[in-house]
Amino acid sequence: MNIPFNDLRRDVAALREEIDAAIARVLDRGYFILGPEGRAFEEVFAKMVGVADAFGVGNGTDGIQIALMALGSGAGDEVICPALTAAPTALAIRAIGAVPVFADIDPATYTLDPARLHECITEKTRTIVPVHLYGLPANMPEILRIAEAHEIAVLEDCAQAHGATIDGKVAGSMAPIAAFSFYPTKNLGAYGDGGLVATRDSELAAKVAKIRDLGQSARYVHEVQGLNSRLDELQAAILQVKLVHLEEQNEARRQRAGWYREMLEDVPELTLPVEPVGYRHIYHLFVVRHPRRDALQAYLKDRGIGTDVHYPMPLNQQHVFSGSRTATGGTPIADEAVRTILSLPMFPGLTQEEVHTVGQAIREFAG
Ligand SMILES: Cc1ncc(COP(=O)(O)O)c(C=O)c1O
Repeated sequence: MNIPFNDLRRDVAALREEIDAAIARVLDRGYFILGPEGRAFEEVFAKMVGVADAFGVGNGTDGIQIALMALGSGAGDEVICPALTAAPTALAIRAIGAVPVFADIDPATYTLDPARLHECITEKTRTIVPVHLYGLPANMPEILRIAEAHEIAVLEDCAQAHGATIDGKVAGSMAPIAAFSFYPTKNLGAYGDGGLVATRDSELAAKVAKIRDLGQSARYVHEVQGLNSRLDELQAAILQVKLVHLEEQNEARRQRAGWYREMLEDVPELTLPVEPVGYRHIYHLFVVRHPRRDALQAYLKDRGIGTDVHYPMPLNQQHVFSGSRTATGGTPIADEAVRTILSLPMFPGLTQEEVHTVGQAIREFAG
């Protein structure tokens, strides 16, 4: 049996008729950028998150950049993000001319460790970008408390956390502004690129509306520096269909995580993901840890089981970020994590039999 790391064809097949109808609706209307589909999607998405406003943008990377621009971060500023995240988090920081400062992570949750934020904060720190990595929210209560004490802005990177919560508060509603990605493999994925900026703050909302649309306050009135970064009508129509199913798909991921736990909880040397009390993990990725990760990955590959590593390198070791800053104590936890983490197959259409087969193979590997 071949078990893919992910299979988007299953995702498409489950919703095919609804998707076809949504696409046809847009084609029949003949209107493709900043129209009724985008507005309708933004409205329901804002409601799901629990914020006043949402603005569809071209992709998640742009979403972070646009949110940073709206916050007024720019050249000369330092912006803190975790060392273990997707490169776009920090690329967006560099895109506005700011310097990324890489914070270390919590060894249990893999998200930014608030206890070590002080190693990153200087008088130049303008914004902190916590990342809700793998579908688990970062420790927002603590991060927001520290940020407030230092008068630093906070922007949530929710690219991997559509519908994740802390004490019922949805990711994207905890800080004043947040960015989402709808990259096809995300829990809410478009069939192309897409992203969104969510905010509860009306001043930030007014800025984001302009920045994503060429800095325009009205047609041909360019008031501020902007990007051409708008969620198109086709993707917005598709995302409306998919948003209706987000909750059941997140639950399906949680169920698969439960199956993995049953299979794997007593495997020696294997560490399973944690879900702290009050947190709702939505398992964008199911990431385990093993001291012989490379051998385990090769063993699974030989048995037709797809896995991946998110991510193989802390960002402070990537060439493009060589001019950036790192926490004064370094990033020993992230440095160690990248050598031992392994992402197992995880998507709503994964069958119980497939999870069982993956679990069995891991048990065999562990002897
Ligand atoms: C944590 C994180 N931030 C930002 C992004 C950027 O999103 P996009 O690929 O839509 O630009 C991604 C996804 O790639 C991500 O996983």
